[in-house]
Amino acid sequence: MDFKKIDDKDLAFFRSVIGEEFVVISEEGLAKYAKDETEDLRFPPEVVVKPSNTAEISKIMAYCNEHNIPVSPRAAGTGLSANSLCIYGGVMLTIERLNKILNIDEQNLQVTTEPGVITEHLQNTVKEKGLYYPPDPSSRGTSFIGGNVACNSGGPRAVKYGVVKDFVLNLEVVLANGDVIWTGANVLKNSTGYNFTQLMVGSEGTLGIVTKIVLKLVPHPKFTLVMLAPFPSMEKAAAAVAATFQAGIVPSCMEFMEREAIDWVCKWLGDVTIPIADDVKANLLIELDGNDMDVMYKESEKLYEVLTQFDCGEILFADSDAQKTDLWRMRRNVANAVKTTAVTIEEDTVVPRYRLPELLIHIKAVGKKYNFRSVCYGHAGDGNVHVRIIKDELTDDQWKNEVPKGVREIFEKVVELGGTISGEHGIGWVQRRYMDIKFPAMHLDLMRGVKAVFDPKGILNPGKIF
Ligand code: LAC
Ligand code: ZN
Repeated sequence: MDFKKIDDKDLAFFRSVIGEEFVVISEEGLAKYAKDETEDLRFPPEVVVKPSNTAEISKIMAYCNEHNIPVSPRAAGTGLSANSLCIYGGVMLTIERLNKILNIDEQNLQVTTEPGVITEHLQNTVKEKGLYYPPDPSSRGTSFIGGNVACNSGGPRAVKYGVVKDFVLNLEVVLANGDVIWTGANVLKNSTGYNFTQLMVGSEGTLGIVTKIVLKLVPHPKFTLVMLAPFPSMEKAAAAVAATFQAGIVPSCMEFMEREAIDWVCKWLGDVTIPIADDVKANLLIELDGNDMDVMYKESEKLYEVLTQFDCGEILFADSDAQKTDLWRMRRNVANAVKTTAVTIEEDTVVPRYRLPELLIHIKAVGKKYNFRSVCYGHAGDGNVHVRIIKDELTDDQWKNEVPKGVREIFEKVVELGGTISGEHGIGWVQRRYMDIKFPAMHLDLMRGVKAVFDPKGILNPGKIF
């Protein structure tokens, strides 16, 4: 792509709009924004700009559009598909200073927030009012709500409550040319023309820059029951998932960890005291939530009956908040544990949940064929399995050229099973080479057509999705 390089005139303009201190060009400053949580990729921007409001972003976009300068919006940099990296250099526009919760509407159970608010902070703040924003990616302690919107994140609680898209009612968006729109309305129903709100959610900063977000909230459930159920095989654990829902039980979380995931994370954390027997090959971490403990206990008995049909071993019920936290800490740190101790890549598969056993068998068979080890874990209740592939002793050539063939075979199976190639991490730069598995060329052209309407010059987060 033919973009203009940043020159002194451009820098002078950015400084005039947002102030000298918020325009970063030092090597050290750029290096910080050259990476996210995806592998060890590095794409330094030419400049990082840190605007503080919609009007500043609008001016910057109008200027960059006129001068053909690429702009990649960035939230907290916790992306797993190089979603925000500056593949073509240019401007990285970070929304970190748009970090205020603007209004909690207790009458309508809504919150209006800027995009640079840390997800967990938003959750805790609305919880003080008895309200609940359930989508909670593992990165919620550091990720921004704007990044969650950009990738349509999910997390464990999606299985009962839905993913980010199910909570977004309305968005303020700065378009590529600097125009500002509100995509929807702060109401629960909306059949008014094309649904730009949902188009923006998950568009990974390729269609506009989200500057305000209106989210629906629900009442916060009073209680949770958390349990860890061990199984003698991955397939049995996976098969128990669909059976649970078929029995009429809807857990608030139903997470899968194969044995290796648990071993890895326990070793890495060092202080987890959860006993796992030698013959356990997989675990389901299950949470029930509600407002009536008696009802929840009855439900857990019913759940126990279902799980035992799949040879579940002795279930560990968390008997304190500390133990619940420990179990969740274990689950949420699987990716961190593996990626900080090994060279890895991660794929984000999703299939109809009853097909999980077939998917897991296939993933392991492909690993055997291409000689790679993988750690499988994720949101089993959603049919969403993260596959972290480990380089181990593979040569650089095998890693670069052979493993992607294996990934392709996994994704082909995923699509054959009725699934798709990302459930919640997005496509970004890394998975775009697999988009042809899911979509015929004609379909991808339709997507490109939409992109061209919103961003005719292709300056917004170029190199992503397609
Ligand atoms: C998780 C992230 C990696 O589920 O999606 O832990
Ligand atoms: Zn996940």
